Amino acid sequence: MKKALLLVVVLVVNMAPGFAVADDKKIIAINTGNTSLVLMANNQGKVFHKYFGASLDKPEEILNCLPYDPRRYETFEACSTFGNENKHEVALKVRHADGNMTTDLRYQSHRQTRIDGNVTETRILLKDDHYPFLVTLIYRAHRDEDIITSRISIENKEDGTIVLEKFASADLVLSSGEYWLSHFYGSWSGEMQMEEERIGKGIRIIDSKKGIRTTQSENSAFLLSMDQPSREEQGEVIGGALAWSGNYQLCFEIDSRNTLHLTAGMNPFGSDYHVDPGETFDTPPFIFSYSDRGKGQISRNFHRWARKYSLRDGDKPRPVVLNSWEGAYFTFDEDTITKMITDAASMGVEMFVLDDGWFANKYPRNNDKAGLGDWQVNKKKLPHGIDYLIDHAEKEGIKFGIWVEPEMVNPKSELAENHPEWIVQSAHRKPILMRNQLLLDLSNPAVCEFVFEVVDDLLTKHPRIAYIKWDANRHVQNFGSTYLPADRQSHLWIDYTRGLYSVYERLMDRHPDVIFQVCSSGGGRVDFGSLAYHHEFWASDNTDAFTRIFMQWNTTHIYPPMAMGAHVSASPNHQTGNSSPLKTRFDVAMSGRLGVELQPSHMTDEELDFAKKAIAEYKRIRDVVQLGDLYRLISPYKENRAALMYVTEKKDRAVVFAYTTQYHIRQDYPTVKLRGLSPEKTYLVEEINTRSTSKVFNGSGKTFSGNYLMNHGMQLKIRKSNETACLELTEKR
Ligand code: GLA
Repeated sequence: MKKALLLVVVLVVNMAPGFAVADDKKIIAINTGNTSLVLMANNQGKVFHKYFGASLDKPEEILNCLPYDPRRYETFEACSTFGNENKHEVALKVRHADGNMTTDLRYQSHRQTRIDGNVTETRILLKDDHYPFLVTLIYRAHRDEDIITSRISIENKEDGTIVLEKFASADLVLSSGEYWLSHFYGSWSGEMQMEEERIGKGIRIIDSKKGIRTTQSENSAFLLSMDQPSREEQGEVIGGALAWSGNYQLCFEIDSRNTLHLTAGMNPFGSDYHVDPGETFDTPPFIFSYSDRGKGQISRNFHRWARKYSLRDGDKPRPVVLNSWEGAYFTFDEDTITKMITDAASMGVEMFVLDDGWFANKYPRNNDKAGLGDWQVNKKKLPHGIDYLIDHAEKEGIKFGIWVEPEMVNPKSELAENHPEWIVQSAHRKPILMRNQLLLDLSNPAVCEFVFEVVDDLLTKHPRIAYIKWDANRHVQNFGSTYLPADRQSHLWIDYTRGLYSVYERLMDRHPDVIFQVCSSGGGRVDFGSLAYHHEFWASDNTDAFTRIFMQWNTTHIYPPMAMGAHVSASPNHQTGNSSPLKTRFDVAMSGRLGVELQPSHMTDEELDFAKKAIAEYKRIRDVVQLGDLYRLISPYKENRAALMYVTEKKDRAVVFAYTTQYHIRQDYPTVKLRGLSPEKTYLVEEINTRSTSKVFNGSGKTFSGNYLMNHGMQLKIRKSNETACLELTEKR
């Protein structure tokens, strides 16, 4: 019986598409619409990475010219391990049950399965040459989006516990003359700054050791341009991003032959992980894409993929939000909030979000020094409770959302008094506070249960809450868990994130219609790990339009604009002190998921009127911005202006945004050539968000062919700092 079963499996394997055998060597091709990742198993069962790039029609041709000296060149395994020929940073390092630190993986079988018309999964089973230690390489190829995801699953069938010391999700090899890395660094209020550098020989590591809020300083996504600095629409570029919200490590190693070896995965830093017999360990997906048409195509690939396969409800346009934070901070009462709701509704806002400061009684949350952890409505500020506010919002015709930070605790709180053991803490050390708060230990299931209940109770008791802003305002320090045993303290990093994901999952199941925003002091959790459980992210606490031109420009390189919370706030800006006209602030915020973050009662009637019109215009164009394809036209890093546009899939509608970052007094504002339109189609071009009848484009209200707009382009009369334009294009039949 067993034999028959085995035969069937082998047949399936041999019939699999993208599979060829010659001289006992097997080629395994993982194809998307325009790209191929090719692996080869040699006659000793070693599986090597052979190629990643534009589609190979006949990947088996690789077998016709194998390296002269395989021992010298065949060192790039599809999952490189410590302890054999590998001379570089490896993907997998394991201490086996008997203490042996080496691993030697051999091909067992592989299977390619069509998940649906667009996605094919390839699973390659490897086994250690000696130990009952199994590794499955799992790739998913998304045909239309040209995206591949890679992860591994490790199974311990040994008779004792093994310890994982490195466990990357992906192991890729690239070959080029030069490698130009664009990465995204930053800090609070300055997340996602983009820097491009040529990487030299040796190792360049991008990582986080912060445990949570891991993308505040370095994002876990990157672009790698081959041979030259990246360009928007030309050249070979690879984009990559790890879907993990804990510590991560991206390791780029260029060897003496100028081959680049990339491992990407959870950071092994202080994270030795024990896997008991019979247990498996799964790594998070690494998402990557190749384009020979520049980084613009990489971004479009990521956005399309994210809308379809990552982001929650990625096909549904997001509501316009007014968030109370910058308009009220901690200082509000019921009247402040109900008035804000009324004003928000009259502006056309669709969702009011009550930010920090609404909870705790024994230690009221009137500033960031107390109350965190005590999730009961503050009776003094809001004597009639949350439902009263929801009733008011609904009466005004808008929805209601609320801020939570359930993973955290102020020492001055009832929670800290009742459950000191739930706090992440180092034995014998003084706790280090950050924003006066400490972190709860989500490696502990009891704490996960508490965090789940905080949010579940809120949503169950107030089922009309339509939106949750989930914040996390510190990272891991005070490393240590009172829950984990002494020999498994190093599990804290990984188990924390797994615990958090399990909470998210349960909440998603119980409250599928609630919109979730991920925030971590701004953009501290912008990664595809958390985005899988959220609808959007708060890009930064920095809401200054000038800074946002750059920050949003950078963010869109990987992350979908529909998820990028972009709010119009007061001028001068609270973070930077910069002043900018309301139109500028709207034109910048409208290129993402538009929201408002100010006190409407501080606005003049003229401003309120402008805001009302701008919000109405945004609602008309939002499906183009949120669901369309992005084309970045003029980089603010190359000129003192910027332009970008969105085009629908049908190419029947488009929206163009143009900004200045400095004055151009005596110069004409140079031409903006559009992209992504259909050359044959005719478009009506209309400038929107205008304060008066004066137009920056004297062709506004007229029709133009796509051919004209893309080749000749449009001249926009924008000369002074802070001047901006927003134009809507509609196909005229
Ligand atoms: C963080 C967030 C802000 C706001 C405050 C509230 O800083 O990024 O948007 O919610 O917390 O304390």
